[in-house]
Amino acid sequence: MTAGTRKIDVTVAEVVEVNDLVKRFRFIRSDGGEMPTFSGGAHTVVEMRDGDTTRLNPYSLMSDPRDRSSLMISVRRDDVGRGGSLFLHRHVKAGDKMRLSYPVNLFSLDLRARKHLMIAGGIGITPFLAQIAQVSAMHGQFELHYSVRSAALGSYADTLGQQYPYNVHIYHGDQGQAINLEGLLAGQPLGTHLYVCGPKGMIAWVLKTATTLGWPGAAVHSEEFLVPQSGQPFTVTIARTGKTIHVGEQQSLLEAIEGAGVDAPYLCRGGACGQCETEVVSYDGQFIHRDHWLTDDQKVCGNKIMPCVSRFEGRSLVIDR
Ligand code: FES
Repeated sequence: MTAGTRKIDVTVAEVVEVNDLVKRFRFIRSDGGEMPTFSGGAHTVVEMRDGDTTRLNPYSLMSDPRDRSSLMISVRRDDVGRGGSLFLHRHVKAGDKMRLSYPVNLFSLDLRARKHLMIAGGIGITPFLAQIAQVSAMHGQFELHYSVRSAALGSYADTLGQQYPYNVHIYHGDQGQAINLEGLLAGQPLGTHLYVCGPKGMIAWVLKTATTLGWPGAAVHSEEFLVPQSGQPFTVTIARTGKTIHVGEQQSLLEAIEGAGVDAPYLCRGGACGQCETEVVSYDGQFIHRDHWLTDDQKVCGNKIMPCVSRFEGRSLVIDR
């Protein structure tokens, strides 16, 4: 078993409807023990048995990292997605047995920062809930700017505003409120680190504005896990065993090889961590690279693929796994 895929057997302790789109799930260890430690920004991969399909979806941990009694995630329902969030919303209830991966952090706070400036959009608030609990416990300085569609859909906005009235700023889209990003980034003290998590467009906007204003790359942190996209079915051959595997329209390459019994490494399952990087032995066709990991040159070169999110179209693909 590979690092990052170690599992914890858990029981669903509580399911809470946060608003029309979001539910919160609290998990305790089935053996009654303590949960592993983690730091703010970490995620877990939730394993879901949905009939014949095993779904493995990453979700940010939102609970206080100091609380080892349970782990909590919040999940936004995606009615047009591949089914993971719908499964959690429709079928998972208190008392169910599930499995979680050990927490992995790809979006940690830089504790050398003199101030943490956090920008969240929608369900992108979840890693910040754990980070804020961590920073507050350390008496660190933080400021959160949180953009929500409306008050009714602003998960945890009220609680955060009441708990940290001087640190938290909420922007309601339906009231025309928007973050003055340039002004905000231009007015920060030296030693501030910037963190962003939210919709793709928001992340791109924040990163571009920070670059334009001369923020050093090392002081800017973002988290964007991509969701595997459906596409044309294709076949892949595993060079080490000679096994040929069919990748279905709705499956990722990673899911297909796992389904065929290959113990493939992963951490994020969203094209961001690099853990699943796989050598291509030969191919006749074209890749649909969707990850944030490989460089443009590597993508053109065609000798590597990130099977968690990238696909292939063509006559033959042989990978080394
Ligand atoms: S598992 Fe993280 S990039 Fe594929």
